[in-house]
Amino acid sequence: MRCTTLQLLLASFVACSSSGQAFTPVAARHGMVVSSEAHASRAGIEILQSGGNAVDAAVAVGFALAVTHPAAGNIGGGGFMLIRMNNGETAFIDYREEAPATASRDMYLDPHGQVIPQASIVGAKAVGIPGTAAGLALAEKRYGKLGLGRVMLPAIVLAEDGFPVSYSLSQSLREKERLLSKFPETRHIFLRDGNPYQPGEIFRQPDLARTLKLVAREGPDVFYKGSIAQAIADTMRDYGGLITTEDLAQYEVKVRQPLVGRFRGYTILTAPPPSSGGIALIEMLNVLEPLDLGVPNSFHSIHLMAETMRRAYADRAAYGGDADFVSVPVAGLTSRSYAAKLRDEILSSKPEAPVTAGRPHAFESGETTHYSVVDAEGNAVANTYTLNGAYGSGVTVEGAGFLLNDEMDDFTAKPGTPNMFGLIQGEANVIAPHKRPLSSMTPTIVLREPTTDAAGNLGPHWASPLRLVLGSPGGGTIISTVLQVLLNVLVFNMDVREAVTAPRFHHQWMPDKLFLEPWGFSADTQQKLREAGYKLEMRGLIGECQAIAVAPETGWRFGAADPRGDGEAVGY
Ligand code: GLY
Repeated sequence: MRCTTLQLLLASFVACSSSGQAFTPVAARHGMVVSSEAHASRAGIEILQSGGNAVDAAVAVGFALAVTHPAAGNIGGGGFMLIRMNNGETAFIDYREEAPATASRDMYLDPHGQVIPQASIVGAKAVGIPGTAAGLALAEKRYGKLGLGRVMLPAIVLAEDGFPVSYSLSQSLREKERLLSKFPETRHIFLRDGNPYQPGEIFRQPDLARTLKLVAREGPDVFYKGSIAQAIADTMRDYGGLITTEDLAQYEVKVRQPLVGRFRGYTILTAPPPSSGGIALIEMLNVLEPLDLGVPNSFHSIHLMAETMRRAYADRAAYGGDADFVSVPVAGLTSRSYAAKLRDEILSSKPEAPVTAGRPHAFESGETTHYSVVDAEGNAVANTYTLNGAYGSGVTVEGAGFLLNDEMDDFTAKPGTPNMFGLIQGEANVIAPHKRPLSSMTPTIVLREPTTDAAGNLGPHWASPLRLVLGSPGGGTIISTVLQVLLNVLVFNMDVREAVTAPRFHHQWMPDKLFLEPWGFSADTQQKLREAGYKLEMRGLIGECQAIAVAPETGWRFGAADPRGDGEAVGY
């Protein structure tokens, strides 16, 4: 069966949907998809309504975003998919990029030991071995019902027939014109050879459509061992990159178990290493659990949360890395006794003086993307994936139509120096062949206590313990964004729409600054924070959370696309 672009658009008529600008969450009885791009959300709903489950829909959304959201959606990058099936089975699909075999610890340093500017960010040498095609295919094989060919169909149609360019996509392509102009193939596809797309114009990607069809027909082997692998290796050779056909052939998705934490009666399923996100999230929730946080975004709550963030991010810098290569003290960092020690320190001290560190680079926008899916049976997927910076390394695979990541920048180029997100990078995260770079991506699923009837029987499936599915892009701000949205729902009793919309702040230890969204904090609160010793800095928008909440009493799904982006929540 071939669905047309029109059918994908029609999916929105039989479903209820809402862009990021709506003021109330989208409510649906059965299934919900929330992503950062409308066509991709609708592709997911179309799959659910065709009999697919949450994993089928999530895989469809992942491939569709690779077409419609080229800044972050990808097949040339990597990510994490957190799955929780309604029978309680969980999996954390780690399809993070990996350093090529010839990568080395000092590969981004000049002969004087200084970091070569942009070397880990722009161009072929910045590219890690991509994992997305393998990760999505494996998720589909293990947990999907419809098969890769069917769930990739919406993406193929969107690439082949094209889709109307939104205002925000046209703006984003213009903003990144300098990067995209550096590589002829990229300039040709994404800037139409110097005639950038206007809003409303149709963007067709025939090369990408061909690539997607090959993967749909032949499976991921064609990407890792076949003609696409050869095209990647050829592009690497032409542009001075390191990835070879051998690197691609040896790439493996790692299926891990999610990290599990508890917070005020809820179970938190989240990201283990090579992400730092889950550890930091659980560490922070443990610290905050017994504290009265008062009113959201008051001086009191910001102070307690910022001090907690500061300590968790300091630990991230010191201990974060790929646990398959270095020992990461996960149990210690997420233990309640350690949290109690941090809490005592926070309650007995004022914001400290800055600790010496290298001067961070200016922040880049964190171009990662997250989507959340819940189906009618209560299966849930939280998927965060990325090219790292917007449009990744800027390099497009010749003839294959997709951009490659610049994930190598998430490694430590030089211990103690910050990466593009201003995050200080430590020894545990130095580059080594086939190691995965430390991530902040934090796809998270929250479960509540199961409800029982008077006789003690578990409730029906719509009352399954699923409570919240969420995640965000934003580099280092991913973790603090997830923390704030989660607390907004579980502690401050906001609906999911309010929770993703509420103003956000961020502290990542170094630089020793409290970043605030400029629109959301009163002058009085800011003044009190300054008086308490915080160095405030206004920072555009923080994160872009796509979340689904499941109402405990009724099982209704409520979706909210973050108004900071251009996403859409669609349910039926
Ligand atoms: N590339 C962003 C992250 O993985 O944290």
